[in-house]
Amino acid sequence: MASQTLVPDLSTTIAGVRFPLCFMNASGARCVTRAELEALGRSTSGAIVTKSMTREPRVGNPEPRYFAFADGSINSMGLPNLGYHAYAELIPSLKAFGKPVIASIAGLCEDDFPDIAGTISKAAPDLIEVNLSCPNIPGKPQIGYDFDASERVIRKVRAVVDRPFGVKLPPYFDPAHHAAMAGVLQRAPVDFLSLINSVGNALVIDPERESVVIKPKGGFGGLGGAMIKPVALANIRAFWNAFQGRIPIIGVGGIGSGTDVFEHLLAGASAVQIGTALMEEGLPVFDRLGQELATVFAKKGYHGVESAVGRLKEL
Ligand code: SIN
Repeated sequence: MASQTLVPDLSTTIAGVRFPLCFMNASGARCVTRAELEALGRSTSGAIVTKSMTREPRVGNPEPRYFAFADGSINSMGLPNLGYHAYAELIPSLKAFGKPVIASIAGLCEDDFPDIAGTISKAAPDLIEVNLSCPNIPGKPQIGYDFDASERVIRKVRAVVDRPFGVKLPPYFDPAHHAAMAGVLQRAPVDFLSLINSVGNALVIDPERESVVIKPKGGFGGLGGAMIKPVALANIRAFWNAFQGRIPIIGVGGIGSGTDVFEHLLAGASAVQIGTALMEEGLPVFDRLGQELATVFAKKGYHGVESAVGRLKEL
């Protein structure tokens, strides 16, 4: 009898929403304009994630505002986006691509969040991702580092949406801060977590030019790419442990290969988002990651995403 090759199942489920593939763009990477969002729809991305939308359209921070280097990237985009009304109009047509649409929302003040979320919810995206962690708006601290403000925003959003929603958090670097945010999420539950946003307010220097590499904020910006993967994995694991896997996690940070996806799954992510690698490689990155993840699964005997989630061994 011929031996049968088992094709690994790369689909996943987050908050009751089925994703045909477990990887998708991170909010911010090639997802501002209608053309970019439709290209994601035609690609093998497992979902379409919008740029974080604000109340008003924004051109964002002055350029250069993104710079890639060997181990990662730094950005200070400043939330360039079309404004939430434009995305509310776009969402129904994006859903025609037959994959989940995730609307990412961001506020410049606390009351922006429920206002945007209420309108966007009516446009019926599959999920709403509430961005509590943009590090790049001068004078606006990341809400996710203010636990009381985070709880207020989550409660306000919960009161106005009828779609599943989650929060995109900044990286935390101390167990006390993981515990504090876990406490917030116990009191004010969400349907999923996106972990992590860029490692904010870093500084990359070009020694040849003796210069910063991006213009906004004197060169300070959010780090992404390979160098932040251990930080992303630690945050995924900490929140996976805190909730024993009860809140699904979308892992973000440092994914450039199928093995990186596998590590995020082991730590506790049920899906992953791709930022720097998508910026650098373009849409074909999704084909490559799919092939590489299938190869990892086949080699290690995993039948699919769900069998790998949270399976990290401790010593
Ligand atoms: C930006 O637009 O500055 C990046 C968004 C983010 O990090 O949340």
